[in-house]
Amino acid sequence: MTAPVIQISHLRTQFDDFIVHQDLNLEIHAGEIVSLVGGSGSGKTTLLRQMLGLSTPTSGTVRVFGEDINDCGAMRRQQLRNRWGMLFQHGALFSALNTLDNVAQPMRELRALPEDLIRDAALLKLSMVGITPKDALKMPADLSGGMIKRVALARALALEPELLFLDEPTAGLDPDLSESFVSLIRGLHQQMRLTVVMVTHDLDTLFALSTQIAVLADKRVIAMGPPQEVIALPHPFIQHFFLGERGQRALEVLREKE
Ligand SMILES: Nc1ncnc2c1ncn2[C@@H]1O[C@H](COP(=O)(O)OP(=O)(O)O)[C@@H](O)[C@H]1O
Ligand SMILES: [Mg+2]
Repeated sequence: MTAPVIQISHLRTQFDDFIVHQDLNLEIHAGEIVSLVGGSGSGKTTLLRQMLGLSTPTSGTVRVFGEDINDCGAMRRQQLRNRWGMLFQHGALFSALNTLDNVAQPMRELRALPEDLIRDAALLKLSMVGITPKDALKMPADLSGGMIKRVALARALALEPELLFLDEPTAGLDPDLSESFVSLIRGLHQQMRLTVVMVTHDLDTLFALSTQIAVLADKRVIAMGPPQEVIALPHPFIQHFFLGERGQRALEVLREKE
């Protein structure tokens, strides 16, 4: 088996007296779509931020592409950053930049490509997410919620990442938009051979996309595996989360896929 894309070992996170993660271990392998689930306050966002190097654990190690991201120089960390894309929950577009410039921004920051190439590449990324050149000049304030997510995704893909992080990618989208976003991610995953790590509460999205589910409870990852295996485990959080009323409909969709 190849080395994991992400390897978290003996991670501990503590804020004052409050322990969020304790002896947390997690391995994510290339090509997987891993959904991180857990109760509110279980430390999902914190864990995602730690994988991105935006937050440092109290102890333990976070390796991404084999490098300890808290123990490599600033330059090395920047090189690692260029190999992943992140879609923040609320899109987080730059409001003063138009759609095209938002997507072009990570490429411009690299200062390595000529401007006409950057524009073409940005338009190509936008077309991948279904945004036409006509809409490329619109400002974020003039875009719908679904379009903002698409543009933010195009920006996350700007540097052709091997690894994509998604925080609640379908939160706030109506069911139709949510479904088209799911197909979009699935298509990109196949085309670009991405590894995807996402946090989601939306069981439809979760079952439609995940090849693996990692369950965060009791301050650590209590279970990880294919959806069908994980939901069969007797842990109270898992039973409550997946097999409550809202889980039933999503599960039916999963069964239909088989
Ligand atoms: N910078 C911080 N300082 C103090 N407490 C924090 C900080 N970041 C997160 N927490 C706390 O850690 C816990 C986990 O937070 P978070 O990772 O946002 O959970 P989740 O995303 O699973 O809802 C929460 O109780 C939160 O209040
Ligand atoms: Mg969160």
